[in-house]
Amino acid sequence: MHHKPIHADRLPALLRAMPKAELHMHIEGSLEPELMFALAKRNNVPLRFADEQALRDAYVFNNLQEFLDIYHAGTLVLKTEQDFYDMAGAYLTRAQADNVLNTEIFFDTQTHTGHGLDAATVVNGLHRACTDAPAKFGMTASLILCFLRHLSEDEAFECLEQVLPLRDKIVGIGLASSEVGHPPEKFAKVFARARELGFRLVAHAGEEAPPAYIWSALDVLKVERIDHGVQAIHDATLMQRLVQDRVPLTMCPLSNLKLCVFPTLAEHTIRRMLDAGIMATVNSDDPAYFGGYINENFTQTFAALGMTSQHAYQLARNSFDASFIDASTRSRYVERLDGVFETFL
Ligand code: HPA
Ligand code: ZN
Repeated sequence: MHHKPIHADRLPALLRAMPKAELHMHIEGSLEPELMFALAKRNNVPLRFADEQALRDAYVFNNLQEFLDIYHAGTLVLKTEQDFYDMAGAYLTRAQADNVLNTEIFFDTQTHTGHGLDAATVVNGLHRACTDAPAKFGMTASLILCFLRHLSEDEAFECLEQVLPLRDKIVGIGLASSEVGHPPEKFAKVFARARELGFRLVAHAGEEAPPAYIWSALDVLKVERIDHGVQAIHDATLMQRLVQDRVPLTMCPLSNLKLCVFPTLAEHTIRRMLDAGIMATVNSDDPAYFGGYINENFTQTFAALGMTSQHAYQLARNSFDASFIDASTRSRYVERLDGVFETFL
């Protein structure tokens, strides 16, 4: 949809009101300190922070690994199916407030089975929240299971095996955790197997690691979307490939800022990549840790980069076009997007 630019004064309101999809959000990263303390109490799990504020004060990171260490500690409070249901319900409530119409939630089971939980406890709790989402929050929600790349491919196979009885509750498979030193090709065989099983495929690539990781996510793992992908800007041939094949990149500006991928939001490459024809989207990654949910990512990034209502439409449209939803749901969502833009004109 082409429209005349909406005045910059009204842009934050438009960004908040516009219907959107969220395609890169780790549910364990949505666990707010308040709920973390409540679950710690409910499950008798000790926390090494005195209170919510002391925990929040510890959220200062120099890189991905420093974040992953504290994120991992926070997952220890999750014990029961109800805990996973409650955590997902809290996220869906926030997502609805940000006018998210479809969310494809990342989760992992390996973190939790490593603490002695069953994979089914995790999947069933999260899936029940997704099933309730249309009636409770007026949105669609589905699940993408991420393998942890710092663990072995054999362990990823074991994880896949454990969720096979729950196959119908999971739309896709992804790849997360410590990127550098754990390239996509380490998981070639298990992704090939997931593909045979009919899972949609995505992978984190080019968050901190070089463009070669994006190439192998595409050519070896055969993923349909790249999570982050910001390092593609350093490889002109890769940029051409991403544009030509309309490969969606699920970008997370506040995450990149907090993990020092970019020194400031003004230096973020999302605008340049979008203008180059890349199918970029905006997402929150780990909103409880990185300073904001999806609308905060939109408003801060647009302010820092001077982006326009045309960019806003393109990003929201991309989020639906890149979603793993059926064609009729997609056109309903795009109609609602167009409707909101029309009311702002
Ligand atoms: N990158 C890799 N793994 C993650 C991230 C991320 O941004 N968030 C949660 N797990
Ligand atoms: Zn991520």
